[in-house]
Amino acid sequence: MHSFDQMDANLDLEDNAEFIAALDIGTSKLTISIGQVVNGKLRCLMGTVDAATKGVEQGRITNVQEVARSLRSLLEDVEAILGFQVGEVHVGISDPSIAVHLNSAMVPVTDHVTRQDIIAVHRAAEAIPLQPYEAILHVLPIRYYVDKKVVAAPEGQRSVRLDVDAKIVTIPRSSIDSVQRVCAEVGLIPVEIIFTPLATALAVTNPRSAFLGTIVMDMGAGTTDVTVHEGNKITYFDVVPAGGDYITGDLAQGLHCLTHEAESIKLKHGCANPMYLGEEPEPIAELQQAGFSRWEITYHDVAAIMGARIDEILTMVMSRMEQAEVEIKDHFEVILTGGTSQMSQMRRYVEEVFQLRTAIGIPNVPQGEFDLARNPQYASSVGLLMFANQEQVRVETPVEAAQTATTSKTSVFSKFKLIFSGLFD
Ligand SMILES: Nc1ncnc2c1ncn2[C@@H]1O[C@H](COP(=O)(O)OP(=O)(O)OP(=O)(O)O)[C@@H](O)[C@H]1O
Ligand SMILES: [Mg+2]
Repeated sequence: MHSFDQMDANLDLEDNAEFIAALDIGTSKLTISIGQVVNGKLRCLMGTVDAATKGVEQGRITNVQEVARSLRSLLEDVEAILGFQVGEVHVGISDPSIAVHLNSAMVPVTDHVTRQDIIAVHRAAEAIPLQPYEAILHVLPIRYYVDKKVVAAPEGQRSVRLDVDAKIVTIPRSSIDSVQRVCAEVGLIPVEIIFTPLATALAVTNPRSAFLGTIVMDMGAGTTDVTVHEGNKITYFDVVPAGGDYITGDLAQGLHCLTHEAESIKLKHGCANPMYLGEEPEPIAELQQAGFSRWEITYHDVAAIMGARIDEILTMVMSRMEQAEVEIKDHFEVILTGGTSQMSQMRRYVEEVFQLRTAIGIPNVPQGEFDLARNPQYASSVGLLMFANQEQVRVETPVEAAQTATTSKTSVFSKFKLIFSGLFD
């Protein structure tokens, strides 16, 4: 199903192993993770490699050529470092312009509910009035009904009808088009496009925490992706269009310096809030020695600017959750991931703001061989690999078959994924 040319004969591989690749299109970097699948199960991570990119802003591709250039160099690195030539990829994007529609659908059933009936009812749920610029990305089942009774797993149940309530996630066609163009430029086939926030949580939560309640917050460069799980369901997801770049940009303005200088100050001397610093403002000696500015810059100055932006991002996250009437309970845990989660005192600050136990989310891959991937910056990439490996089937409607015929193999709509691993709310 997935075409990789294995280059390195020394890798310890099982005979019936397949490989899947996930490409995470982030605002600051593109990441490819490769996983080995044995008997349909993701057995291990072969590796994670990234390449910096310009050309993505707040999770959206704004310069196809620029992203294609970074992707070309990333593919060379993947080949050199991991020994794989990637042909097909599962691509993750966290575009803030997604929309969610609710819909219900019904199909008649003969005898028992089959896999095909479930596919058919998902298909039927896709029939919603769309704007000309919108395309459907995912159909997320909220509830199935077999003969009008709610069931968690309808397959095999004896019945005459199957109903579903579902969330239909749509995205601007232009965003899909950009992904396809970037992939076409470098000869990759995007077999599927995934809304990244749905995947990230897979890498940083476990069934217990997802059952009890978690808020996964992936604070990246351009976006802060949020997903809430409870009872092993995703009850809420959102993309807030602000992340580390926003903090850096404001720091550059406040300190009258260049963006890359502000980025370096943020990484080296930054703090999530000035309250964690001593009472007395202390000058940053390194900047003074470098003659960085005509006036003295203190750790407090830096933390005050950064803290204001962090407050703004966290307020946006919380007010959007409030607006959506998401119920957050006292025992929920916040799992903070993404590059910005690594900022000094960030975990502690989020814990104080949310008044919830907070941990840093590191991708759940075995310690030792894959230490490089055990970094919050790669949570979404590893999560995409896990999501990509979920049960899926290929079906084509006549329209899509025609589309595929005219647009070669790059139609992402030729694959339909049944998301069985959890219901949504
Ligand atoms: N130690 C650190 N302290 C503060 N910020 C950090 C640290 N390390 C990385 N960052 C910030 O994390 C951001 C990059 O995070 P990440 O790699 O998760 O983003 P991305 O996936 O490219 O973007 P996005 O998911 O927003 O589209 C940058 O803004 C960077 O400045
Ligand atoms: Mg990211």
